Amino acid sequence: MTYRVALIGAGTMGGVHARHWNAMPGAEIVGVLDPRADAARAAGPAFADWDTLISQSKPDIVDICTPTPFHREYVEKAAAAGKAIFVEKPLSRSIEDCDAMLAAVEAAGVPAMSGHVLRYFPEFAAAKRAVDAGKVGKPITIRTARMAGFPDLGGRPNWYADPAQSGGLVLDMILHDFDWLRWTFGPVTRVFAKGLYGQEEYFGDLDYALVTLRFASGAVGHVTGSWAHPGGFRTTLEIAGDAGLIEHDSDRSAPLSAMLKTKGGAGGVAVPESPMAPTEDPYYQELAAFVHALQNNLPPPVTLQDAREATRIALAALESIETGKSVTLS
Ligand SMILES: NC(=O)c1ccc[n+]([C@@H]2O[C@H](COP(=O)([O-])OP(=O)(O)OC[C@H]3O[C@@H](n4cnc5c(N)ncnc54)[C@H](O)[C@@H]3O)[C@@H](O)[C@H]2O)c1
Repeated sequence: MTYRVALIGAGTMGGVHARHWNAMPGAEIVGVLDPRADAARAAGPAFADWDTLISQSKPDIVDICTPTPFHREYVEKAAAAGKAIFVEKPLSRSIEDCDAMLAAVEAAGVPAMSGHVLRYFPEFAAAKRAVDAGKVGKPITIRTARMAGFPDLGGRPNWYADPAQSGGLVLDMILHDFDWLRWTFGPVTRVFAKGLYGQEEYFGDLDYALVTLRFASGAVGHVTGSWAHPGGFRTTLEIAGDAGLIEHDSDRSAPLSAMLKTKGGAGGVAVPESPMAPTEDPYYQELAAFVHALQNNLPPPVTLQDAREATRIALAALESIETGKSVTLS
């Protein structure tokens, strides 16, 4: 069967998803909803409102790529309409919203997956396999860093610059690390963080955070995030265990680096790019994994419960930055 996809939000991430849906055998974009009509039309057949989109385009999957504050509304609508749901991370700015989304999806009995794409980056997938295979022995300390320039939406109202909407880089960007760390090393029990969140009088929009995590296993994690990086995207990973060490640095391992002059495009948040064939791209892989789960009646590989737990760690880090105290997670 060919899965019919309705895309909600055709900005940076909606554009990435549209490219991959169009390249995927067994999927097609049948409708796009975005108040920016030109952006909607560029991604596929544009619709002016939700009801018309659903009744006329008859999607099987609703793919939600709006700014974070709109995720809950569209998850609830898509669940009520009985659609399979792919929703970008972070699920929401609040646990109450996450719980409402989980309840809506459960009540409707629809499959739902969230975009924790780091699990599909080959270095991080390989590191997880090595840890699972016991290659480093018992993991003791894990450091990750994720650095990019401050999101520039090319003159569009910048919802990333408003921590009340985006949660700053802790909720928006290093949430990726929180999900991967929890997936690989198990539950987190305590969070302590320092960051620039909410200090715009000194630092403007720039954001930086250092988050330390205590895992139930006893391991310790250090997650650094920066939106003060002068362009490009860089990630590092170091896992030290009692039997060895695994390291990754995207600057050292990049198979291709291109520094091209831009001609003032539409702007958008920095998204890590892949030099691999389109079907090997992590953003393609996560959407294909969702379709594979639907085709085979399997649970989606990243559940909304997973996404809620990553959000809970990020919200604890934001609380710790504000209060200066560590936060214990039950
Ligand atoms: N997984 C990743 O690596 C990754 C990377 C970037 C962004 N994201 C996430 O994707 C989501 C979108 O981010 P983005 O950078 O594409 O933002 P963006 O601002 O570039 O795009 C959002 C689009 O949604 C549209 N929109 C706004 N309100 C809407 C509404 N009520 N209904 C329908 N469309 C609406 C906007 O017009 C815009 O075109 C965010 O949650 C962000 O955190 C994830």
